Amino acid sequence: MAYKLLFVCLGNICRSPTAENVMNHLVEKAGLSNSINCDSAGTSSYHIGSPPDSRMSAAANHLLGIKLRGNARAFKSSDFENFDLILAMDKQNYRDILSMDSSGEYRDKVRLMCGYCRSHSLKEVPDPYYGGTEGFNQVVNLLVDACGGLLEDIRTTQVNL
Ligand code: 4NP
Repeated sequence: MAYKLLFVCLGNICRSPTAENVMNHLVEKAGLSNSINCDSAGTSSYHIGSPPDSRMSAAANHLLGIKLRGNARAFKSSDFENFDLILAMDKQNYRDILSMDSSGEYRDKVRLMCGYCRSHSLKEVPDPYYGGTEGFNQVVNLLVDACGGLLEDIRTTQVNL
């Protein structure tokens, strides 16, 4: 059974689709596509069905040469059972996800994405939506760092991959 990752932000059109696509890119390069599956979701329903934000796609294409695929969906309770690890982009996302787990049963599955960064010291992936190009570039660079650390962590802890 593949190890399943869910990346979560507010709108599911900027940060979490970038995390999903960057992680897929690293997983493919590592030859682990059959062992690690990625998805993403938003804590809000503002943008359900929308493709990734064009400014975010431009930054990912410019810096990494990758296309961002996917359509926004909302985080739902069944995601707690269906994923092995749920990565929140910021602390508000983290709180909003945990507020849907009233029993605390899934608390250990929910983590802050920046906890996996190896080079950057930011604790959250900043929301780029109302800012300029630099903010979108920062999201890409931060997520490359965090996804690299996450992949390394999975490879060392999930011995059956
Ligand atoms: P995301 O960015 O959470 O990284 O997808 C945002 C997208 C949309 C909005 C806020 C943040 N919004 O307010 O519509």
